[in-house]
Amino acid sequence: MSDVKEILGNYSTDITKTIEEELSAITPDNLAEASVYLTRAGGKMLRPALTLITAEAVGGSHKSALRPAAAIELIHTFSLIHDDIMDQDDMRRGMPSVHKVWGDDVAILAGDTLFSKAFEIIIGNVGTSPEQNNKALATVADACVKICEGQALDMGFEERFDVAEEEYMEMIFKKTGALIAAATKAGAIMGGASDEVIDAMYDYGRLIGLAFQIQDDYLDLASDEETLGKPIGSDIGKGKMTVIAIKGLASDDSGRLLEILKDDENSPEDIGEAIGILTDCGAIEYARNLALESVNQAKELLEILDDSSFKHTLVKIADFVLERSA
Ligand code: IPE
Ligand code: IPE
Ligand code: MG
Ligand code: MG
Ligand code: MG
Repeated sequence: MSDVKEILGNYSTDITKTIEEELSAITPDNLAEASVYLTRAGGKMLRPALTLITAEAVGGSHKSALRPAAAIELIHTFSLIHDDIMDQDDMRRGMPSVHKVWGDDVAILAGDTLFSKAFEIIIGNVGTSPEQNNKALATVADACVKICEGQALDMGFEERFDVAEEEYMEMIFKKTGALIAAATKAGAIMGGASDEVIDAMYDYGRLIGLAFQIQDDYLDLASDEETLGKPIGSDIGKGKMTVIAIKGLASDDSGRLLEILKDDENSPEDIGEAIGILTDCGAIEYARNLALESVNQAKELLEILDDSSFKHTLVKIADFVLERSA
């Protein structure tokens, strides 16, 4: 699967239309432009794809899940705008980050605007069961709190070099896994699934979400800026505690690695040296196995679903999480 958008097919136009309509009446102009900017920059749309496909895979229709799916993509976009301010990253989706173009103040407001609009989109999901829609709303709200908690942990870990793997797993579940889990759970809810299936789909999303963030941490080291559309080596530069760094710090070469992670002004050579240490000590391989285990567990959970092409697509998406290079 080269692109999740291939799977989304025509749904992708529906998602984009819903988002464009919702964002059409923002003033003043600078806030309006900063708010729509990233939504037009070509993200993978993994989360809304999961919502729509899950709704179908549990035997429902994607139509009732369309607005929750669009809302989840907006929540994701809000989190990226604020994340780039916190991580001081200057590039996103191959373009200058929102805060680079409009400054921190407008970028914070653009994020807040997308956050609020997401909830308006779900509230406007008329013609569907109010009870299901409320459940989807609660699911998205819960993920938003977890994103903030996860981001707070992530930032706090920049000051620490004794973070345990369990702490990292909690952090990535909250900052990334929770929204992907909310995407599949909202799809299951809107598709009319039983509580048992809804729980299984939440767990499937959580597990591929963990793998997704581990792969993101890996790509920060192994990809290139053009493919990834965001800066490479950013995590080492900031001293981020990824599972790769945690394993590296437990290795024989931890002294030099610690020096590089603590240094605020690393040269490209330093970053290259850190990548060499992390490769040689097996930290990268360890992280990739951890992510693979998570994907395999996620796929097992899909056994609760009746066979369908949509179920098959969910299997493919789980594999895509680790095959992706961007
Ligand atoms: C990036 O998410 C942020 C993380 C949670 C790692 P994506 O890789 O899904 O970003 P886009 O939407 O495709 O740009
Ligand atoms: C992102 O984690 C998590 C959220 C946006 C909530 P990262 O900081 O690793 O994401 P990228 O690498 O900047 O996309
Ligand atoms: Mg970041
Ligand atoms: Mg971050
Ligand atoms: Mg990252």
